[in-house]
Amino acid sequence: MISRPWWETRCERFFAFRHLKILEKDGKDDTSMDGKGKYYITTPIYYPSDRLHIGHAYTTTIADSLARWHRFTGKDVLFLTGSDEHGQKIERVATSLGVKPQAYVDKIVGSFKDLWQKYNISYDDFVRTTEERHHRVVQEVFRRVYAKGDIYKGEYEGWYCTPCEAFWVENKLQDGNCPDCGRPVELVKEESYFFRLSKYAKRLLRHIEEHPDFIRPESRRNEMVNFIKNGLEDLCVSRTTFDWGIPVPIDDEHVIYVWFDALTNYLTGAGFLQDEVAFGHYWPADLHLVGKEIMRFHTIIWPIILMALDLPLPKTVFGHGWLLLDHDKMSKSKGNVVDPVALADEFGVDAIRYFLLREVSFGQDGNFSRQALIERINADLANDLGNLLHRSIAMLLRYRDGIVPSPGESTDLERDLEQLASSTARDVNKHIEGLELNAALSAIWRLVGRANKYVDEAEPWVLHKSGQSERLDTVLYHLAETLRIIVLLIKSFLPETGDKMWVQLGIKQDLGSCSFADTAWGRIEPGTQVVKGEPVFPRIDLDALMEAEEATKVAEEKQETKNTLTQETTTQTKVEETPQVSIEDFAKLDLRVAEVKAAEPIPGADRLLKLQIAIGTEQRQIVAGIAKHYTPEALVGKHIVVVANLKPAKLRGVLSEGMLLAASTSDSLGLVTVEKDLPSGARVK
Ligand code: MSP
Repeated sequence: MISRPWWETRCERFFAFRHLKILEKDGKDDTSMDGKGKYYITTPIYYPSDRLHIGHAYTTTIADSLARWHRFTGKDVLFLTGSDEHGQKIERVATSLGVKPQAYVDKIVGSFKDLWQKYNISYDDFVRTTEERHHRVVQEVFRRVYAKGDIYKGEYEGWYCTPCEAFWVENKLQDGNCPDCGRPVELVKEESYFFRLSKYAKRLLRHIEEHPDFIRPESRRNEMVNFIKNGLEDLCVSRTTFDWGIPVPIDDEHVIYVWFDALTNYLTGAGFLQDEVAFGHYWPADLHLVGKEIMRFHTIIWPIILMALDLPLPKTVFGHGWLLLDHDKMSKSKGNVVDPVALADEFGVDAIRYFLLREVSFGQDGNFSRQALIERINADLANDLGNLLHRSIAMLLRYRDGIVPSPGESTDLERDLEQLASSTARDVNKHIEGLELNAALSAIWRLVGRANKYVDEAEPWVLHKSGQSERLDTVLYHLAETLRIIVLLIKSFLPETGDKMWVQLGIKQDLGSCSFADTAWGRIEPGTQVVKGEPVFPRIDLDALMEAEEATKVAEEKQETKNTLTQETTTQTKVEETPQVSIEDFAKLDLRVAEVKAAEPIPGADRLLKLQIAIGTEQRQIVAGIAKHYTPEALVGKHIVVVANLKPAKLRGVLSEGMLLAASTSDSLGLVTVEKDLPSGARVK
């Protein structure tokens, strides 16, 4: 068997709890369970307002790699992720689609879980904020903070950014817009419960000062300290103008503010108010990994909630940078998001995981581009790692029938390689402890590079030709052993590749049961039978790929031009010259009134727009060549006419499930609409 799936580890955690309980009964320290302690790591819980993009996969892949590494070093890991399902934003999306919020989130959250499975994300628990267990925790937290006198009733009048679910005072707005996302804010005036953030400001500043690891990296710590020093306003923690949330336990006219609800997931997932032994063991969290834009919530509101509850604060909140596309923040409304599923289907999950972990300097913003991705795959994965495995296995098969020989005497060359292998394992651990993921991977690739160089220096083919059999044994053994150690070091980052390489190395020990101690030199057993396998990372022909992409683009542009020309010639043709159709032919068309719910550009296709439309209760996506004539904003809310029974097709890889009707001349285009305000779904005949 190869490495074990995450659900088995989850079972182990359950048994670990039981073991803990026994230890506790015996009056022993619960951290002595494995001598290495625990590691509780979290990702943000994502909004199911849309499908996740590669930026979300970035955070989760990093968290997963850290969780896997800490398990490997013997820690009892709790790795938590989830979905942030309440709030005005979600309620509005569901309403715009004509469905109930619960039905809407159920569907989207299913797609989150599918994505995490595809990316081999080994989470131990997934908190949905609509779950009963979370509901109870949030209400109890609210009750306790209220009972302490830290929540009071008042009236809020100010601004609210629904996409960020954030309150803003007037003087923080930028050009009247949300200072975080730049989108318009709404004026809100309502009765509200307030949380006394201001009361805790000094204590929080002291904590930040005394715990330099609490906010990382340092640049973000400085930002947060300045923010607090500028003065903290008490925070609204309830809303009354919609009801998609957890009711305030003492006043069911109010629902709890979505961030108060969401942050509390970190307690729910650790067993707070459900399993006090587990909670005592895992809390406080070791690392909350979050994007830089939500640091304020995690390093100000969250610690103050915990202070009000008299609970210890998380050890570290790390605010990482953004993954940008063409140096711009990815966002659905800008139409520049990258689909992580399509990307993994095209290049393989581990290639994407590697790119995310290696390309972006952790903590800073980094850019995503297909070219950079392909270059990484070819250079680091196919050339360096893949080639080392391939040539080593090939030589073992050619010279020793695939059997790992016993080594003879080592020379300086071997001692150098052995030392580097041992120091690399320690270095990777040190870098992971310091959250330096790029450095950890660079260290592993230095070892890969050294092993490739070792082959060139030791020249096994010459040893074979000249009959230096013992020396050849030594070299082949060293290659197999270095590869074994490399697999142990990469498997936390590239789990599928680790499994595949392990199979080719033919090692019988279960990879999932290997621990950091197994990185010690000399554990591959002579006699191990290696197996010839497929290349783990085939090289990608960048030029051919670019040419193919270019060819598709040109073909699509030609098609678009042809369509426009057809429309233009039609306008010049006299009506009586067009062929006649029967009424039966016409009746085959299902023409309907549709309402445009959302519209966005399609990156790289400047004539096309992607529209989300409602035809009665049915939601559809269509692609229309109208970008030169309409802005996306101008379309939302329009009642248009569509051919509803047109066969679905893909334009520029984007699914189109219908076609809108428009009248056009060579330089103008107008959408067909109906003269009266008829509901969407109405038939046009
Ligand atoms: N629901 C809140 C978080 C509540 S946590 C108690 C939220 N959700 S979100 O769906 O908007 O996801 C935000 C997180 O996704 C970011 O903090 C970041 O971790 C990740 N990212 C979203 N876009 C990203 C990039 N383009 N690049 C890197 N990370 C990105 O905020």
